[in-house]
Amino acid sequence: MGAGIAITGCGSAAPEAILTNNHLAQMVETSDEWINTRTGMRNRHIASATESLSQLSAVAAENAIAMAGISATDIDLIILATSTPDDMFGSACKIQGLIGATNAVAFDLTAACSGFIFALITASQFMRTGVHQNVLIIGADVLSRWVDWSDRASCVLFGDGAGAIVCQSIAESDRLLGFEMYSNGSQNDSLNLNYHSQSKPLVENITAQHGTYQPVSMNGREVYRFAVAKVPEAIGKAMFRANLTADDIDWLLLHQANQRIMDAVAKRLKIPSEKILSNIAEYGNTSAASIPLSLDAAVREGKVQVGDTIAASGFGAGLTWGSAIFKWGY
Ligand code: UT7
Repeated sequence: MGAGIAITGCGSAAPEAILTNNHLAQMVETSDEWINTRTGMRNRHIASATESLSQLSAVAAENAIAMAGISATDIDLIILATSTPDDMFGSACKIQGLIGATNAVAFDLTAACSGFIFALITASQFMRTGVHQNVLIIGADVLSRWVDWSDRASCVLFGDGAGAIVCQSIAESDRLLGFEMYSNGSQNDSLNLNYHSQSKPLVENITAQHGTYQPVSMNGREVYRFAVAKVPEAIGKAMFRANLTADDIDWLLLHQANQRIMDAVAKRLKIPSEKILSNIAEYGNTSAASIPLSLDAAVREGKVQVGDTIAASGFGAGLTWGSAIFKWGY
């Protein structure tokens, strides 16, 4: 094995506007009580016309780079995990330009709510082979652009935000202790943001499909069942690879989709609920951003300390899911 990996900085950013459960009750037939007891959510942040995914990501990235104690020009790889780029060609290079990471190569990665974990694992391959040393990983989504605001089953769940970490190569022991990645395309229909084509005849016998994306559609119960079954398995396997047991885990850092999912996963893994890192009440489900957003809050609050062992897992559309176990800091 090549170089070891340490996560040395984190940062986050969220839009200013806060949409509360009571606001949602003015829009669709729902209530603060229903949303809070079924999901644990109270608020979510909604991006304005001037708060783009790239800008939020740039702020999160700059905070992470500052915490790592390096400068943007030290970064040699940027991976942006997102399903909602400002530009369909990708937004990672735009962010590279905004933060002045002139020595980096940047690209987008799409794996919905698993995106951040998949990006971390992807980055680790470049680092272990010695190709890159200082990597910026961003998880960001602005799903408010793509939610059906008349569908009470999904519109109450999602919010916007960005989170970032800096990973650095170290000669000493590797801090990324284990990981797992999975997908199951046979359940692809349970969570989608699908392209909807409209025929545009060009010339005789040739018609382009010139359309747009349909709002998020989700079979909530199916995704719920999938998450509660598969996430503990993915974390269990990563713990096995890392030669750890549940007692060795200091913090459980799950994709913030539903507080009930987080509680059920902790229970199955026999990890006490006090070890769950959750900020779902404030941000809702921010898709690829939710894991780094939650990590950043816990680090800045002083909850997560250098050397703590964190079991993280993302899950969502694809269906995709994955886990990573790492020690925080260096
Ligand atoms: O980030 C990607 C991963 N996403 C997830 O992991 C989401 C997983 N799914 C969930 O978190 C949950 O399934 C939801 C929060 C989406 C829904 O909670 P649930 O306990 O599974 O509710 P349900 O879908 O079984 O619906 C129960 C009832 C239904 O009414 P009936 O059929 O029992 O009369 C719904 O129509 O609640 C109704 N309902 C609502 N009522 C008030 C659904 N949405 C709402 C709402 N307000 N917003």
